[in-house]
Formats: sequence, structure tokens, C-alpha cells
Amino acid sequence: MTKFTKFFALIAFLVSTLIFSNPANAEVVGTATSPSNIIQVNVELDGEGRIMYSVNRFGRQLIAPSLLGFLMQDTGRMERGFELTGKTTATHDETWEQPWGERRFVRDNHNEVKVNFKEKTGAKRALNITFRVFDDGIGFRYEFPNQGQTLISDEITEFRIAPPTTAWWIPAGEPNRYEQLYRRTPLAEVTQAHTPITMRTNDGVYLSFHEAALVDYSGMWLRRTEGQVLRAQLAPAPDGVKVRRTGPFSTPWRTIVIADRAGGLSESDLILNLNEPNKLGDVSWVIPHKYVGVWWEMHLDTKSWNSGPKHGATTENTKRFIDFAAANGFRSVLVEGWNLGWDGNWFANGREFNFTQPYPDYNMRELAAYARSKGVHIMGHHETGANICVYERQLGAALDYARDNGMEAIKTGYVADAGGIITCDEPGREVLMWHDGQRMARHHLQVVTEAAKRHIAINPHEPIKDTGLRRTYPNWVSREGARGQEYNAWGVPPNPPEHEANLFFTRMLSGPMDFTPGVLSLVGRGGQKIESTLAKQLALYVVLYSPIQMAADLPENYAKYMDAFQFIRDVPTDWHDSKVLAGEIGDYVVVARRDRNSQDWYIGAVTDEMGRNLNVSLGFLAPGKHYLAQIYRDGNNADWNSNQFEYVIGEKRVTSSDMLQIRMAAGGGQAIRFKALD
Ligand code: NOJ
Ligand code: CA
Repeated sequence: MTKFTKFFALIAFLVSTLIFSNPANAEVVGTATSPSNIIQVNVELDGEGRIMYSVNRFGRQLIAPSLLGFLMQDTGRMERGFELTGKTTATHDETWEQPWGERRFVRDNHNEVKVNFKEKTGAKRALNITFRVFDDGIGFRYEFPNQGQTLISDEITEFRIAPPTTAWWIPAGEPNRYEQLYRRTPLAEVTQAHTPITMRTNDGVYLSFHEAALVDYSGMWLRRTEGQVLRAQLAPAPDGVKVRRTGPFSTPWRTIVIADRAGGLSESDLILNLNEPNKLGDVSWVIPHKYVGVWWEMHLDTKSWNSGPKHGATTENTKRFIDFAAANGFRSVLVEGWNLGWDGNWFANGREFNFTQPYPDYNMRELAAYARSKGVHIMGHHETGANICVYERQLGAALDYARDNGMEAIKTGYVADAGGIITCDEPGREVLMWHDGQRMARHHLQVVTEAAKRHIAINPHEPIKDTGLRRTYPNWVSREGARGQEYNAWGVPPNPPEHEANLFFTRMLSGPMDFTPGVLSLVGRGGQKIESTLAKQLALYVVLYSPIQMAADLPENYAKYMDAFQFIRDVPTDWHDSKVLAGEIGDYVVVARRDRNSQDWYIGAVTDEMGRNLNVSLGFLAPGKHYLAQIYRDGNNADWNSNQFEYVIGEKRVTSSDMLQIRMAAGGGQAIRFKALD
């Protein structure tokens, strides 16, 4: 840069700072402060009638004034010329109970300001914006009151992050959907990211940007427009209309969780609090549990989904898993490849799938009866190959068939590159859509609500992201939506040692994940090494929350490690409370959770490629109570690369006044059960 251009760059910087950090003649038209005065939101209207919001924490600016508004398909921009027409405030403090989850009781304590605007000229459209301010973050959403048709081609919601910041993120708009390795870069090097995206400011404030209650709307990506400015970019639609609505409606909440330690992001219930309460009534039929399945063999390529000599879903092989489940206390057995349609190329195709016709070597009736006699349930599998046209046509019959065969849960699948969802809403014409566009937001809720009528829980793979809808529809129990264990079978590269320490502080902030842990054999297809120690596989049951957790390995592999397998048998999948004892994004994490159905506590700890020695306080245990700590740790010479299988199982009596040293090998982990003694 010459001196001359430097001078002009400086002037441009000062002008833009002036405009955006203290917009000339901007007027504050609404304000809300969190219950303990930690976070403050200001809503401003500038001289051109543009609406902006900013966020301060302890008086320091985190989000500089950022634009709000829309691009409309038919009527152009909707972002200036507004006037204030009204304002209301509210405060809320309520504790509600989850049917299942990371904690039983959730407190929703926030202050709210709702600001009403109207365009002064032209169509004079009205737009209301509601802000809810919690001590651990904010949420805001737009409301379109009393309007006819709304055709949104994009949102121009901005997030101008003020302090210098590092981001952990995956790119949006890439073929692999959410199944990507997390990147750590300066925020100023993000291109276009999925949410949740996690950040840490250089002075140690942790942020997670996401959305809540994604209903009948297109998923929000974040595109960096300049510097540290992110702008909403809705998932694409083939005709450019990303959201099509009729009548009054509200958008999903745009959310920012804010904490002063990494673990605070995970402990926040903000996303759930911004979702509507349970609409399904009694959901005692949604049962958190562990499952095994006819699954890992296919990923290893020793068995196949399709028919033929390697077919995995045979009556005989399934009985083997049912017996194993019954003997070890697993409630269900997932069976993939049981139905017609897997022969030929089903990927991004799915035209042949039939969800009520098993292969001839899979006797559904016999297996349903056999499972029932052993107190086990078959978990259904509906791989669609991303063809929702075929799936929606069969949905009712498919779910009836599953229910009639004793299934309590179904795993669905949408295998295709991003943008490859096949629809046929206009007769005779197939149109491709995105996994996270408005059409799929509708599709997933249709499946979930139809399944609920039959008391069936749903677990989609290649899903739309989680935005907390499990609160409203508690049978939406889990989903994939990130690189899971399957990448350790055939992924190039497999998941690296830091993967789970990344997931915990990124993907997991949106909700439960069906990661499918517990591959104690630590080897993938063709001998590919799984970059983990054995003890780490146990720890994942506590670290990566899901109310349904798979024991993904084969029975013959568990037989080799029966003492370690005991932890998988013992660990619950439903919790009374959860606390993050220590952790840094992408480095390590130590999580403690209390069993929902007993006084027992559990710890799961995982690390990246660095070995670690951590001292944690057991102050979370009930005071005065004695516990037997059953410790599953890496052996002294364990290492993810050279010595994966060395583990030690030990016991120790502890109380809440003890400290515990947690030693993890490089790429390792530790799992502990604290058995309540008195
Ligand atoms: C991808 C899913 O993530 C995996 O679990 C499943 O086995 C295959 N699709 C086949 O449906
Ligand atoms: Ca997948």
C-alpha cells in the first residue's frame, strides 16, 4: 500500500466505523437488558429509516449496530423507510420440565422488547421484531403481521462482531452438507458457514451463532461480507424464492449464546427456551435408550445393504443382534438394508425404495415376534436416497407397517450431495432442492408429526440442522448432521483426534447427535485406523449427548473387551443434570452428568492429539454422600497412534470434597461412573 492509499483506507475505516458504531442521527427505539444486567440489546432506527440492533456485554460492545431486513422476490428490498409504530416489553421467569434431555428442569428467564415498524411509503408493509435477552445470550425474530403472500429471496440480517475474534466453523453450500471437518480460522477468514458457528474473542468471550425453531422457513447460513461482518444467507431454492408464506407468520429466532468460558456455551438452554412447549402431550412412549445394529458390518464392507451373498439384513444375522441386545440390556436393534430398493444405485436416486416390502431373506413378521419375545424392539430404517417424492407417497403406510411390527423408533436417511433432494410437487416434474431449505424444513416436521401419531420416534441422518424443535416435538430424538463414526470406517481422512473436542463446542450446541460411538475394535474398512484410544470410545457416551446411543461395534468385538464393555452397558442416556467441568474448543472437554433415574453421576473426558493431566473438583457430587468411582482410563503408555488398546479399570471411594486427577493419553479419554453408595 502506498502512503496515499493507506490514508484513504484509514479515512474509509473511520467513516464506516462512524456510520456503524454510532450511526449519525440514529435513534434508539427499543432496549432490553438481561435479568442480571449482563447483556443489553439496543434497537435503532437511522435517518434513512433502517433498523439496526447492537449487543453489549458488561457495557462492552460485542455486536456493533447491524442491519435488519429482507430482500423480497416481488416487491424489492424491505430494509429502509421504516417508522416506529409501537413497542411493548415483557419479562419472563419460568422453570419447565423436559421429558428427556441433558437436564430435567430448565429455567427460562429473559426480558423482551418487541418493536413494531411500518414502511412510510410504498406498500407500507408492517414488520415487528422481538428481542429476548437472557443472561447467556439473545434471540430475535421477525414477525410479518397480517400480510397476504410473502416471498423472501433473502434475509439481510447482519452480525457485525466488534472485537477481534477466532471462529470454529464448517463451510455451507458444499456437497457434503454438514459432514465436514471443523476449521479454526480468524473470523475475518470465514467464507460462508453453517450454524452453529462458534467463536472466541481475543479477550476471551465465547459466542455461538445459530437459530431456534426453524419451522416452515429456509435454514440460515452466514456469509462474510467484509471484515468481521456476517450476513444471513438463506439456503437456496430452485426458483429463487427461499421462503414462501401466506398470512401472518414469524421467522425462526436468530440466536447468539454468549459465555465467559467455553463450557458455558454447552450449558446454555437458550435455544430450547426459544422453542414452543411440547405439542404432543403425553410422550411417555418416547424412551431414551441404547441400541445395537446391523450397521457397522456394512460400513466395514464385510456385509452389504443390497441383496446377494453379503446381505447383512438376513433373518439369521438379525437374530444374532437381537440375542446380543437381550443379553446386554439394549432396548433396540437397528436393521439397515431390510427393504427392497437397495440394489443398483440408490444414492441420490431412491426411486426403488419400498418401505413395506422386506427382502425375501428378511422375515419381518418372524423377527418382530422374536424380538418381542426377548423384550427387544427393532429400530426401523428408512433410507430415502434423498427422494422425498417416493418417501412422502409411502409415508403413512411405512409408519403403520413399522408400528405394526413393534418399532418405537425409525432412523431416516437422505443420502445425496447437498442440493440433491428430489421433489415432485408439480406433477410429472422432478425438482432438486437443498437439505436445509424450506421444503425440507416442512418435510422433516411432516415425518415427525406423522410418526408421533403412531408413537414412533425419529432420528434423521443427512438431516436439516437441529434448532431445538425436540422441545415442541419430543419424538424428534436425535439426528446426524456432522461427521459421525461412519467416517472412521471409510472417510478420507478419518475423523482426527480433535474431532470430538470440536463437535462438543460446535455441532453439539444445536442438540443431540446420533454419532454412534463405541467402536472398541478401533479399525475401519480395510484396516483403517480409528484415531482414538479405547477409553475415549467409552467417554463419548457421556460427552456427545443423545437420548438414543448406539453401541456401534460388532458383538464379537465387544466379547474381546467385556470389562470395558461394562461401561457401555451401565451408562444411561437420559440425564437429571449436566455440567462442563473443563474444556477448550477443539482441545479437550470434561463433562459430568447425573443419571435421571438414580443418584449416580458420570464423567466423560476427551482430548485431541495432546495428552493431558487435569485436576477436577468433585464438588458436583451430592455433599456428604459416598460414591464408588469406577474409572476407565487410558493406560500409562496409551496413545491414539501407537498404543490404542492399553486401558486400566480401577475403583476408588470418593466424596464431593475430593479432587480427581484425569489423565488422558494423546487422542485419548476417560469414562467414570460414580456409583452412589448410601
Ligand atoms: C448414511 C448414514 O449416516 C449411515 O448411518 C447409513 O448407514 C447410510 N447412510 C445408509 O443409509
Ligand atoms: Ca451420514
